[in-house]
Amino acid sequence: MKHLVLIGMMGSGKTTVGRALAERLKLPVLDTDTAIEQMQGLSVAEIFKLSGEKQFRKLEAMLVERLKGMPTHIVSSGGGIILNGANTLTLKEIGVVIYLKASLQTLEKNLSGEEDSRPLLINHSLEALIKVRSPLYEGAAHGIIEIDGKTVEEIVHEIFALYTGIC
Ligand code: S3P
Repeated sequence: MKHLVLIGMMGSGKTTVGRALAERLKLPVLDTDTAIEQMQGLSVAEIFKLSGEKQFRKLEAMLVERLKGMPTHIVSSGGGIILNGANTLTLKEIGVVIYLKASLQTLEKNLSGEEDSRPLLINHSLEALIKVRSPLYEGAAHGIIEIDGKTVEEIVHEIFALYTGIC
């Protein structure tokens, strides 16, 4: 079975939904940010600060390569994973890619108080990021789930139907 890969903006609930899906499907979960933090012994914010975004993106790409040889996982990806075209191609090939699509209002609500752990928000507005990235998420996804106003259970239910229909 292919990996189930969640993509979308920071604050779209990939980590929370990923954990719930893992429980429902009895599959292990891999959160790319957490895996990078464990590899480096540093938080994402620290990696950005000490080594820069470019280095973080390299680690992210390494991890995507590593997924090729791994058994089926639920993958909660970092919001910028689709900025690298090679990541997108690989994920599309080895996974069923689901885009958790959220409005600016939902993202703002989910991210309030989380700014310290999202280093990209220091220099970028959420609105500008959505504008640039939306077409990339849409192009990378096998399926799109609109998450505004839905509970985690409802989102998991929709993804479950999509994943089992495709796999
Ligand atoms: C990023 C999103 C973050 C993390 C890093 C960069 C982005 O992950 O990978 O701060 O470029 O959107 P989440 O989407 O899990 O917040």
